[in-house]
Amino acid sequence: MKELQEDLERVLFDGEAIQRRVDELAAQISQDYASGDLALVTIMRGGLFFLTDLSRRLTIRHTFDVVGASSYGPHVESSGQVLVTKDVEVPLQGRDVLLVEDIYDTGRTLRVVRDLLLARGPRSLEICSLLVKNCPRTVEIPIRYIGFHIPNVFVVGYGLDYAEQYRHLSCIGVLKPEIYR
Ligand code: IMP
Ligand code: MG
Repeated sequence: MKELQEDLERVLFDGEAIQRRVDELAAQISQDYASGDLALVTIMRGGLFFLTDLSRRLTIRHTFDVVGASSYGPHVESSGQVLVTKDVEVPLQGRDVLLVEDIYDTGRTLRVVRDLLLARGPRSLEICSLLVKNCPRTVEIPIRYIGFHIPNVFVVGYGLDYAEQYRHLSCIGVLKPEIYR
């Protein structure tokens, strides 16, 4: 792991800070949805660690599912195209859907996936994003639960990748620019 950490310019959130924040979010969500019928949905592959950590901390009944969507390809700039590669399978009709996302960047992916989920007729639909990037948005979407705000930098770790690598790092850090130049 050490040599992977050396690809980072700086660490923004270490594993403990992330877990503490996930604890807080899970407590809040457990309270807010106590009388609901919660269905978590995340977007592969970036949201997987966040989803499973969050799910295991919820003290209320819930289901979870994953959808496949990708916009980035191997590059650090969004391609602008969002492809849905896997649909939801768990029924969402009349349920309280919480879309769990790794990062809110331009908003394109969230818009496409939110519309996909809304078409299933949920009773409510809210978004929980671990990170919100301070950058120009293509689409403005209200985010109900936010883990951390970050500057407009390219980050990896805790699910987030560069060319499918670095997802398994327990921290979130800024990738050295020479790695992707
Ligand atoms: P959007 O459609 O531009 O909002 O991009 C959302 C997706 O792009 C996220 O779900 C991530 O998979 C990816 N992404 C955006 N910013 C970053 C980043 O800083 N590091 C790694 N992946 C990112
Ligand atoms: Mg990616």
